[in-house]
Amino acid sequence: MTMSAWQRPWCGSLRREDLGRNVELVGWVRRSRDLGGLVFADLRDRSGLVQLVFESEMLAAGEGLSQQDVILVRGTVRERAEGQANPDLPTGEVEVRVTEMELLSHAETPPFLVEDDTNASEELRLEYRYLDLRRPVMLENLMLRHRVVAETRRYFDEMEFVEVETPILTRSTPEGARDFLVPSRIHKGSFYALPQSPQLFKQLLQVAGLGRYVQIARCFRDEDLRADRQPEFTQVDVEASFVTEEDIFVLIEGLFARVFPLVGIEPPETFPRMAYAEAMERFGSDRPDTRFGLELVELAPLCEGCGFRVLESAAAEGRVKGLVLPGGAGLSRRELDALTEFVKPYGAAGVLWFKRSAEGVASPAKKALGEEGVLRFLEAAGAGEGDLLLVVGGPRKVVLAALGALRLHLAAERGLVPEDRHDFLWVTDFPLLEWSEEDGRFYAMHHPFTAPRPEDVEKLGSDPGAVRARAYDVVMDGVELGGGSIRIHDPEVQRRMFATLGIGEEEARARFGFLLEAFRYGVPPHGGIALGLDRMVMLMAGRDSIRDVIAFPKTTSASCLLTGAPSGVDPAQLEELGLKPSE
Ligand code: AMO
Repeated sequence: MTMSAWQRPWCGSLRREDLGRNVELVGWVRRSRDLGGLVFADLRDRSGLVQLVFESEMLAAGEGLSQQDVILVRGTVRERAEGQANPDLPTGEVEVRVTEMELLSHAETPPFLVEDDTNASEELRLEYRYLDLRRPVMLENLMLRHRVVAETRRYFDEMEFVEVETPILTRSTPEGARDFLVPSRIHKGSFYALPQSPQLFKQLLQVAGLGRYVQIARCFRDEDLRADRQPEFTQVDVEASFVTEEDIFVLIEGLFARVFPLVGIEPPETFPRMAYAEAMERFGSDRPDTRFGLELVELAPLCEGCGFRVLESAAAEGRVKGLVLPGGAGLSRRELDALTEFVKPYGAAGVLWFKRSAEGVASPAKKALGEEGVLRFLEAAGAGEGDLLLVVGGPRKVVLAALGALRLHLAAERGLVPEDRHDFLWVTDFPLLEWSEEDGRFYAMHHPFTAPRPEDVEKLGSDPGAVRARAYDVVMDGVELGGGSIRIHDPEVQRRMFATLGIGEEEARARFGFLLEAFRYGVPPHGGIALGLDRMVMLMAGRDSIRDVIAFPKTTSASCLLTGAPSGVDPAQLEELGLKPSE
């Protein structure tokens, strides 16, 4: 007789307390060992595995098993023989002596080993994602993600937030990435855009009077992909009325205090805060990894008239900064040359090095600076005996980006990142606008609805680059987990913001008219934040790619190796949409 599926124990749940119990189990055969007259097999499901024993009348059934076969067994839980217990396994003290077996489905030899340490390439794993997900570590990631989502929903429910779904077929939203477009069949030549975030809808819900909105929301952005970026990803999206920055900070610190302990990480009650400008100057990043030192030091004051032209002109043109690698004086010429190659993609000409050792100082700049000059730089940077000072000069943006990246590279390469430490940080006081040399115009650093600090509003006309935003990011271990802002709710400020961005009245009306119109009918002051759920779960699971915590992710070239998406379509479909096939 078959048991109700809901009463059947999980394979990994059996313990000493179950001794003597008759059980029915289902799962996948992990491997079997034929000892002649006795077959042991591991039966596995998402909870773990248990050892099965096939003997006497069941021997033949056991002998016929293949890896990954799906079986149902009935049997009795018994203690493992003397000396056979496996203390590394939760079910390691027991085994199930099988009395009946049904082969539910036979499995062919899988294309790779369905184990945590698999030998498969990521391409192969993505092509056979269902087998990849069957590996215990991957199932655990999916289950962790579920628990994070469940706890998040519980928390926001307790905080009296209401979950509302917003449209997927919509108009372009202003997050600054490229849109995914969906052609309309009914309105030929017109397109929906997939939302880059629910930004405008969550603001409209505040106008509607909802007060506290949350959504586990899918977002779509057609941008260059990286380990922590996917074309579709999930946000814990939040917006509330009558709130300040402080209210949002408390809300998110409260959420993290509930979610991170699921994996034993205890965030501090309140997170430290750092202004954007300080983060950039000290760490060369707006999402600084503060778990280790290697901070950037200012060296420009030493450069003026120092006698080394490269440094003199770099200081005059922008910045000269450096970082000290403790114990780095032993780096070889080849290793130092590699660092120059490393910074080139960031636009830097190279890295100038200064070594301090028992034998004295060394640097390619020694001839120009003299022994004393070199020493001055080393002293100013705080480099001691055995240390290496690495210096980059040039335009501010280039110097910060190059040294920020070099800092992370050296820390990773030399094992300076403490793996068991986790740092949470609010980055505040972002500039409202960012100047683009290429386009010769300002862009919103966050999005065009972010409020400027009231005391800076006047500068919108005179010195837009100096206006600070009421925006904030939450950063963990050098990863931007989320970002948000208090929004503009004053139509006059919004008009000035658009004007500064070069968005005229007409364009503003065409793109965001519905939001501006809504703001005429009683808009509460409001603000919010969105957290990258994939990134949160990735850090909690201790992984370094969000692909490992998304069930069916895309490759870095945005394709799905499992389904073959994106794919060509039938010319008839294109015609129906009023589109022509490309050459
Ligand atoms: P933002 O664009 O900063 O803000 O996005 C919020 C968070 O979403 C995550 N994220 C991503 N995760 C994976 N793949 C991507 N391609 C990707 N892009 C972003 C990051 C990021 O911090 N509407 C605003 C929020 C607001 O103002 O309330 C927004 O979307 O973790």
